[in-house]
Amino acid sequence: MNNKIKLNLNYLRPGCNLIYPLYTEDGEKIIDDRVILTQRKIDEIKKKYGDIVYYHDSDAEIKNELTIPREHITKAVNNSRSIIEEIRNTDKLSKSAYREAENVVEDIVSDLNSNELEAIKLLKELKSHEDYLYQHSVNVGMLSAIFAMMTGAFTKEEIKHLTLGAYLLDIGSIKIEKKILQKSGRFNSAEKLAIKQHPQLGYDIVKSIPGIDKIVLQTMLFHHEKMYNRGYFHLPYEILPISPKFVSVCDIYDALTTKRPFRDPISPTKALRFLVNSINEHFDYKLISDFINKLGPMLNNTQSFFARNEYCELNTGELAVIMDFGMYDFLKPKVMVFCKFKKKKNKLTVQFYDRPIEVNLQEDNKRLLTKIIDNRQHIIAIKAKLIEKDML
Ligand SMILES: [Fe+2]
Repeated sequence: MNNKIKLNLNYLRPGCNLIYPLYTEDGEKIIDDRVILTQRKIDEIKKKYGDIVYYHDSDAEIKNELTIPREHITKAVNNSRSIIEEIRNTDKLSKSAYREAENVVEDIVSDLNSNELEAIKLLKELKSHEDYLYQHSVNVGMLSAIFAMMTGAFTKEEIKHLTLGAYLLDIGSIKIEKKILQKSGRFNSAEKLAIKQHPQLGYDIVKSIPGIDKIVLQTMLFHHEKMYNRGYFHLPYEILPISPKFVSVCDIYDALTTKRPFRDPISPTKALRFLVNSINEHFDYKLISDFINKLGPMLNNTQSFFARNEYCELNTGELAVIMDFGMYDFLKPKVMVFCKFKKKKNKLTVQFYDRPIEVNLQEDNKRLLTKIIDNRQHIIAIKAKLIEKDML
């Protein structure tokens, strides 16, 4: 496979080093892999070659020793397939199949300890084949294990249980009518209700397995809960255990970046933006900030997922423009704040400041970036208003 992949230099963060060499559209090499890209270097490349450059998938030789045996991944996919077949045929999951799943997860977790970058590469490869359900369970398992490991917030045992919960996440959907699962159009309300049963159905399949850890059960049962009680069970998000939240981010990231019968995959950049825009809607800020800062550079090949001069919203209800990237935190760029939205009796009003306020989110402990504005019409309207107010 030798895919030519477009890269917009405006999304590169100074200080990053790419695992690929960069080329022009005609194949002229611009820069070697692993070169630290300073702002000056990025500007030089932009001046000479324009904003768009390319890299090739075939260049993605990870230079470290290969430490993750591919047969472990194949074993994981085959095991996922046999678990699904067993539940389809017997309506149950046997103790021996569950133990086998535990072994698979143990292999994954101990492999990942040695090299996360290699694991991410395998994960990307896995997307190109195998049925969605098998592939998705392995992907979400691996991604969750890496995420949990990189945050340092879990013990080894907890990571194993969390990964097993992620691996078995959607097995309940095997009990849902196939024609609903394979439908390519919109779901009606009865179909939506049927789909929402899958966490409970999955939990029911595994709950009586002797010795099953509560983290596995919690992860499976609560992986569709959202903030403001908006999840499948309408539970208060704040008091839920941490493991389903971790796995839920990985579940959504993988689903968005995988090809489905009803839609094409979206790019890692778009998926990361989607996650940012789900802050305070679905996920809490800390969880998304951790995912983006720990995994973003590997998933997105060290590109940033927003560019200078893009508009964003802050948790304070303020509107701002991104001026520069954060040095230590992807979600803490330097911004210029223009106005604040105020809600009065269901009416939204905008209060413009006398002059734009420069804020370094890294140093401001009240303001957080919670949305990147993507809607074209909104962007045009904001620009027009700022010009009218003489603020651009
Ligand atoms: Fe699910």
